[in-house]
Amino acid sequence: MQPTTGPAISLRGLTKTFGDFTAVDGIDLDVPRGQIFGFLGPNGSGKTTTIRMLTGTLRPKSGTAEVLGVDVVRHPERVKRRIGYMSQKFALFEDMTVDENLKFYAGVYDLDPATFAAQREYVLRMADLVGREDELTSNLSVGWRQRLALGAATIHEPELLFLDEPTSGVDPVARRQFWDLLYDLASRGVTLFVTTHYMDEASHCNRLAFIYRGRIIADGSPAEIRADHMEQRILDITTPDADAVLEWLEKADGVDEAYLSGASLHAVVPTGSPLTEAGLRERLAAAGHVGVEVTEVDPTIEDVFVNLVARQR
Ligand SMILES: Nc1ncnc2c1ncn2[C@@H]1O[C@H](COP(=O)(O)OP(=O)(O)O)[C@@H](O)[C@H]1O
Ligand SMILES: [Mg+2]
Repeated sequence: MQPTTGPAISLRGLTKTFGDFTAVDGIDLDVPRGQIFGFLGPNGSGKTTTIRMLTGTLRPKSGTAEVLGVDVVRHPERVKRRIGYMSQKFALFEDMTVDENLKFYAGVYDLDPATFAAQREYVLRMADLVGREDELTSNLSVGWRQRLALGAATIHEPELLFLDEPTSGVDPVARRQFWDLLYDLASRGVTLFVTTHYMDEASHCNRLAFIYRGRIIADGSPAEIRADHMEQRILDITTPDADAVLEWLEKADGVDEAYLSGASLHAVVPTGSPLTEAGLRERLAAAGHVGVEVTEVDPTIEDVFVNLVARQR
């Protein structure tokens, strides 16, 4: 029997180099079971390289990696059937139908016909693809393809699912719907390890780790991370002309950082800054930006990460 308690993933000193470049630099991580764990970081920070080591497709240079209690460095084959992997490129066959893609993945995992029938039914309903079984995958919009890829990656009912930037390039509504599907999987006991470079998706996760240049620079629950790492003030700005105001803020004296945050802009100012809500509004008005509202807000997890990265640079 495989152990069913203990963390889903446990890493110590996990390191990967390509030539003399260190892509993943000695990371330690414990991922509890049955939760959504967010692995966040900008492009090129080492997220995919980490996932490839955890799924047994890439050998680390050093360190240990246990996945579902199995040493995946030594015995990658022992965990393959118990995990699912939705890669960044979705890994669907564009020239095959919805059904053919599902059959292909069922074949990879050698599912018996009864299990496949039940899982196919579940996946088609979950992905909202009932009635479209015979449609060519290339004809589906990105949102549908994304849900089909999730279905294909879960056809064998894995205990642990790796999702590598599953919402990349998907519109906000489809992203929201996709997260609902992930909540549903988590509520059925599946552990989800999700990477994203969309910082606003952090709030969907039970726990997070933030990777930058191959190193973990923060981890914990969203509340812990907010409490531990935010030292600056945030001014939230709503404006009908976000592009121009953002450009102005990026150059403004006394503003450390400025970026889009949901439907508004966030300007980060030092803790001791005398800049007030009214003061910033007046400076914006003087620069010709009218109809602007400025409100000081508590930092979001996104604010924390943007600032952690700015400080590392
Ligand atoms: N096979 C490889 N050979 C050389 N460099 C690689 C290889 N795979 C990834 N890298 C480099 O390692 C770094 C991390 O890449 P990756 O893990 O794909 O980042 P992320 O998924 O966070 O965008 C990048 O600088 C990337 O160019
Ligand atoms: Mg990647």
